[in-house]
Amino acid sequence: MDKILVLDFGGQYNQLIARRIREQNVFAEVIPYKSITPEEIKAAGYKGIIFTGGPNSVYDPASPHFDPAVLGLGIPVLGICYGHQLMSWMAGGQVCTAAEKSEYGKVTVRMAACESLLFKGIPAESVCWMSHTDYVRTVPEGFAVTAVTGACPCAAMENAEKKLYGVQFHPEVTHTEFGTAMLRNFALGICGCARDWRMDDFCKKSVEKLREKIGSGRVLLALSGGVDSSVCAALLAEAVGSRLTCVFVDHGMMRKNEPSEVRNAFSKWNINFMGIDASERFLERLKGVAEPERKRKIIGEEFIRVFEDAAKQIGSVDYLAQGTIYPDVIESGLGDAAVIKSHHNVGGLPDLVDFKEILEPLRLLFKDEVRQLGRELGLPEYLVSRQPFPGPGLAIRIMGEITREKLDILREADAIFREEVEYFAAAGSLPEAASQFFAVLLNTRSVGVMGDARTYGYTVALRSVTTDDFMTADWTRLPYELLAHVGTRIPNEVRSVGRVVYDITSKPPATVEWE
Ligand code: XMP
Repeated sequence: MDKILVLDFGGQYNQLIARRIREQNVFAEVIPYKSITPEEIKAAGYKGIIFTGGPNSVYDPASPHFDPAVLGLGIPVLGICYGHQLMSWMAGGQVCTAAEKSEYGKVTVRMAACESLLFKGIPAESVCWMSHTDYVRTVPEGFAVTAVTGACPCAAMENAEKKLYGVQFHPEVTHTEFGTAMLRNFALGICGCARDWRMDDFCKKSVEKLREKIGSGRVLLALSGGVDSSVCAALLAEAVGSRLTCVFVDHGMMRKNEPSEVRNAFSKWNINFMGIDASERFLERLKGVAEPERKRKIIGEEFIRVFEDAAKQIGSVDYLAQGTIYPDVIESGLGDAAVIKSHHNVGGLPDLVDFKEILEPLRLLFKDEVRQLGRELGLPEYLVSRQPFPGPGLAIRIMGEITREKLDILREADAIFREEVEYFAAAGSLPEAASQFFAVLLNTRSVGVMGDARTYGYTVALRSVTTDDFMTADWTRLPYELLAHVGTRIPNEVRSVGRVVYDITSKPPATVEWE
């Protein structure tokens, strides 16, 4: 398979770059700049390299740098934003820091009269998305300026002979009008990649690889009933059939009726299914814990302990399988980006795990690719298009300490909100799709009045986001009528809730979940 390396210098859109390349059916993977050398890049057979953006200034000695030998490997390189400045700096160009030259947001970019392969088929003037203070003032020897903006004398540069390209703007964000076309030109036209990253292929190869790896061993799959673990179950069932046991753990922090729904859905499948009620032990371990990362770590570890116990019951289990996907891996801090939160199935894993190995067959996939794979495996649409539910469950939607009382309150409020959104969606009354929607219980109480008496109830926050990859998200423009309805129903129907608010923050700067 042809592949492109996205060399991560800490920018916030790095995953997006990989996704955009994969949308062209070319495999791309993100690797932190510290984890790989030019020799390893050469040996791994990458057909192209993309230097990502990053928050630093190339002149800062603490900023990420890379061995300039990478520019002489004969492999095409595209530098984006910081990556563009770094390439210039590595090749002897001049990069300047000048506050008055900052450009943020949409900017008109003009291509120089050139035959750039990167801009093939793209109009001479278009809109791009900029976010920078530093800029390239003088291009290195052998390079030519191929685009400018009003404030940026080198919005793009290239050394076509050496196949080195740099753009100051971000082609990976949708605000850059022809960004996808530029990335396609790079991957297909300049790097010459074949379009061989396809889900039917991935499915076939994964099944073969899993069969080879597992041999006659037995696998226990951590099944939550969500999209990722369900697709993982289908893939493993295809590979090893009855040597797979799917274990569903009710940790006591599921949504209303969810444990019974999952049991019912999967007991109809032709798989070994085991349901475990472990709510007591989880809630016991979480007593008095308010800090979000500690909650996540405790839950991650307790899951493993429950699975270890289940494995003893089943007898001779070799592998533990999980539906970990690519954003889980990255957001848990295994890339160069800062740790945002420890997804329980990655960053939340304890150091010692009593299994021969952990299998994560979806580890390389983005959410939309997981859904495609699910369809490829013949899973029903209602399962494949379900909204995600995080492994730690309601634990990260209750601010502060988790108690049974708070869990009960949140379950009821959440069920009302979801029921209303689903009702509006089914009636075609949502102006845009709500990708994930849920309620959050705050630690804040506030004063109200009900039946002439003072109340002092909890605050429930409603969260609904619209996104296609969950790496970035916007808040859903839910109709006022829906919000008004939920705002009336929740305080009326859920004891102890006195106030309902709607979260209008996008990701970034917020995350989808509150903890
Ligand atoms: P955030 O809050 O990181 O969420 O913006 C992005 C997506 O990931 C889900 N999420 C998780 N999923 N284990 C999971 O399986 C986790 O620990 C976890 N934390 C967040 C979240 O629901 C959203 O869909």
